[in-house]
Amino acid sequence: MERTAISTIVKGGTIVTATDKFVADILIENGTITTIATSIPGTGPDVVDASGSYVFPGFIDPHTHLDMPFGGTVTADDFASGTAAAALGGTTTIVDFALHTKGDSLANALKTWEKKAAGKASIDYAFHLTIADGRRETLEEIPLMIEREGVNSFKCFMAYKHVLQVDDETIFRVMQAAAKFGGLVQVHAENGDVIEVTVKEALDAGHTAPKYHALTRPVQLEMEATARAIYLAEVSGSPLYVVHVSSAGAADAISDGRKRGLSIYGETCPQYLVCDTSDYDRPDFAGANYVMSPPLRDKWNQNVLIGKLKNGELQSIGSDHCSFLCEQKELGKDDFSKIPNGAPTIEDRVAIVYERIVNGGVVGLNQFVALTSTNPAKLFGLFPRKGTIAVGSDGDVVVWDPNASRTISASTHHMKADNSIFEGMTVKGTPRYVISRGRVLAKDGKYVGETGKGIRQKSAPFRPVQL
Ligand code: URP
Ligand code: ZN
Ligand code: ZN
Repeated sequence: MERTAISTIVKGGTIVTATDKFVADILIENGTITTIATSIPGTGPDVVDASGSYVFPGFIDPHTHLDMPFGGTVTADDFASGTAAAALGGTTTIVDFALHTKGDSLANALKTWEKKAAGKASIDYAFHLTIADGRRETLEEIPLMIEREGVNSFKCFMAYKHVLQVDDETIFRVMQAAAKFGGLVQVHAENGDVIEVTVKEALDAGHTAPKYHALTRPVQLEMEATARAIYLAEVSGSPLYVVHVSSAGAADAISDGRKRGLSIYGETCPQYLVCDTSDYDRPDFAGANYVMSPPLRDKWNQNVLIGKLKNGELQSIGSDHCSFLCEQKELGKDDFSKIPNGAPTIEDRVAIVYERIVNGGVVGLNQFVALTSTNPAKLFGLFPRKGTIAVGSDGDVVVWDPNASRTISASTHHMKADNSIFEGMTVKGTPRYVISRGRVLAKDGKYVGETGKGIRQKSAPFRPVQL
């Protein structure tokens, strides 16, 4: 077989997609998979030995916050450090949130985030847009963003009052526009109005420690907002994607909506599968590293979320990567409500999920691929270019050694944050090679790619999909 110069062969691995598992070689030419066959001849440096390994489609992280101003500071990882760390963990595409500012245009928000990523991203990236106001001008831009700019999802925050939160009228109007023009609405589902009261009461009573972050955001406030968003979606006819589901109660609301035949999708995150409220009691202000919203929940919620991933009631797993240095977390030393919300998770998302649900015997390999790659690709208009291994798809593959173990630590991870909420956890299963459009980005835990080669991906309009 004659091959062009820019080609890579992935040889001898067990290919695993959301539906299949078989041994074959993969030829990637000029960034695209051109052949999948039992034996593709070739030797030399452009041949990747995948024997004894799984070959997964590049993992897709549908929920990241890079270079984002938030909580009185800016996230520690920008598109350079964040995407290199993502690649080392096996992620070859992210969908990051471009933040809209009240009174400004969606086009400007998108331009700002495109500038942040261009020339810095090591892996491919697409964007969601957040919505900061429900002005007529904003709503009129939604179809333009979908049709011209390749953004198919719009996030409304139901919390972070006075900062990112929007009211129900705005959410409903965004849903109407999404329903009409092929958009998917996302919600951060917590009742921000009530949280404003509970936080003030806690602070007035002198409660300043990190654990009060969780105590002032009880699970009912996530359940109520999730159910409210689902009812609004039902009335407007819009599809809905609920991000970072942390609790059994919120996941139950999603299950109820799906039982009514609605196009409702739920995402959880690795942190909600392995961390819990007791982490807020860590000494020396270390509990601040676990401050995120929604907060970590009582441990029993983990198995309910995992059960819902297994039975298909939750369909996606994002990292919600939003990293801060300990020094930045110190902004809330005397007031838990000033601790920047979020944690560094982009690098370890895949490994934690593999450990918890594959090694844990909960789901098989196909479903693991669906949750971490294929379903996000389908929801965010990237499939089948991304999210699978097929002729014509981008040559994004991860050669995964299921037997190699490592222990996660902030001292060895590649994210900028000097803390890890997964510190000391041992995971079995690591990427040997991470390949983006035929280029090896990571090899045996070392970054060998070039910075800035990631390409902005346009999302196709959302189409309801059975997941
Ligand atoms: O605490 C979190 N989740 N930080 C990131 C912003 C968000 O709410 O997704
Ligand atoms: Zn959120
Ligand atoms: Zn987030």
